Amino acid sequence: MTPAEASVETEKLCRLAPVIPVLVIEDASTARPLAEALVRGGLPVLEVTLRTDAALAAISEMARVEGGVVGAGTLLTPADMKAAKEAGALFGVTPGTTDALIDAARAESLPLLPGAATASEAMCLLEKGYTVQKFFPAEPAGGAKYLKSLSAPLPQIRFCPTGGIGLGNAADYLSLPNVLCVGGSWIAPPEMLRAGDWDAIADLAREAATLAR
Ligand code: 3PG
Repeated sequence: MTPAEASVETEKLCRLAPVIPVLVIEDASTARPLAEALVRGGLPVLEVTLRTDAALAAISEMARVEGGVVGAGTLLTPADMKAAKEAGALFGVTPGTTDALIDAARAESLPLLPGAATASEAMCLLEKGYTVQKFFPAEPAGGAKYLKSLSAPLPQIRFCPTGGIGLGNAADYLSLPNVLCVGGSWIAPPEMLRAGDWDAIADLAREAATLAR
């Protein structure tokens, strides 16, 4: 899969809902009810970060949830890319991007949402064919104002910003012409996950799913 083909796929995913929940899962047994709650709330596209021992098992569980589209985030190495694909991830997300990761995504045919934080990084990815990118870490890197400034010289790049985004500032990003959707962890707070409060998580998802783009 070429970067241009990957971007066609990731653009489709990013258009499914205004928010992609970024999930840190400590216990794989919570993965399925969590995914069901998020899908029920209107957020079908899910990013499971490979930051916990349970992440790959969680992806496998979530891949079985009807209506869900589960991907893997925090992919740092080609081995992560391979493991994510084997676990059933339908897309991959990286906080920043290296040639090794791009090669691995191509080899695995895993649609990649590659991370960039500066104009130069975004332009390097564009040169390779990635027209859809993750802007990370969104708030510390300059926020919606920064991303708006990129839209004038680089209108052909569309972003999914993540990092420091919540209900209070998501609309600032979603109103920009170069933003397809946002990512964030606020939809699945650790305390709700630990308590197994799926209805509360579904409510947070419902609220996020109604954000205007
Ligand atoms: C991340 O990779 O941690 C995401 O960008 C989520 O960031 P958040 O926890 O600030 O939403």
